[in-house]
Amino acid sequence: MVQTNRKLLLLTSGGDAPGMNSAIRSVVRTACYHGMRVFACHDGYHGLVEQAIFPMAPSDVSGCIQLGGTILRSGRSKSFRQLEVRQRVAAFLKDEGIGYLVAIGGDGTFRGAALLEQLGDIKTIGIPGTIDNDIVGTEYTIGFDTARNNAVRALDKIRDTSASSGLNFLVEIMGRRAGFLALDVGISAGAEYILVPEYPIEVSKLAEGIMHPARPKRSVIIVVSEADCPGRSFGIADELRGMTPGHEYRVCVLGHVQRGGMPTAQDRVVASIMGNMAVEGLLAGKSNCMVAFQNGSYLFAPLPDPDLPARSLSSQELLKLNEVLAI
Ligand code: F6P
Repeated sequence: MVQTNRKLLLLTSGGDAPGMNSAIRSVVRTACYHGMRVFACHDGYHGLVEQAIFPMAPSDVSGCIQLGGTILRSGRSKSFRQLEVRQRVAAFLKDEGIGYLVAIGGDGTFRGAALLEQLGDIKTIGIPGTIDNDIVGTEYTIGFDTARNNAVRALDKIRDTSASSGLNFLVEIMGRRAGFLALDVGISAGAEYILVPEYPIEVSKLAEGIMHPARPKRSVIIVVSEADCPGRSFGIADELRGMTPGHEYRVCVLGHVQRGGMPTAQDRVVASIMGNMAVEGLLAGKSNCMVAFQNGSYLFAPLPDPDLPARSLSSQELLKLNEVLAI
């Protein structure tokens, strides 16, 4: 007889995030430590739709803790949105005797896991992984720290040119739905202005600041969260050109450079803890939830409601701090 309760499937889905490999390593090794059999698929739910699963042993995750991206590869599967496709997947998992799923990713990843759980005998837990840090129910998502450090290092270099040449820069930072990344990057890099979707600033206000006769600075750096319009910095730069005669602007869209590379120690530690908790939580009977970080502790939280907006900045405190520090 198939021992359903001892087989676990692991996948990463949606946008990759640095630290996902540390989570994969932790899930595989914790599950094997507890005598479970671990399977995985490539390319997120796409691999599951293709029924292409493969076993994973502790040695399969050797040497991956320091790698960016995800060794399981990731993807966004359109066909998994169809009920009949999910039903086929659920039947396949049942035949294979797989009783547990750990899904690493963001909102879309968790939605897929919840839908699968509704269909069958599989228990699922999510691990939040996205550089945006915008998942409702957790104050930290794997990849955020690496992305903000990647961006800060880039901004430090841009500042060299800005200060030397007197050029103003608009540096666009990822974060489709929330300004967490832009805010931390702006503060850490000493940006003069930080534009986030939650608290929009009129371009005319920026222009006023730049043209202010008492402004002692030769050039400014404006951090712009991409919001729902990647590349929007170019338009803002054009508007500023029209409003601030005598000032020159350059735009740098950091893009996917922020999302890659070696994960920071913080992302590796968080991912290791979350991976371990996901497996031990499943074994303890938890399911249909995610591992989360709230008020300094790790816990299990309900999956975010797919009909509600993403987590976003709820206070202007740090923006105000930046205004003071940027004088
Ligand atoms: O969700 C992570 C993220 O990097 C966002 O910051 C960005 O808007 C989006 O993914 C980019 O998506 P893609 O990788 O599909 O271009």
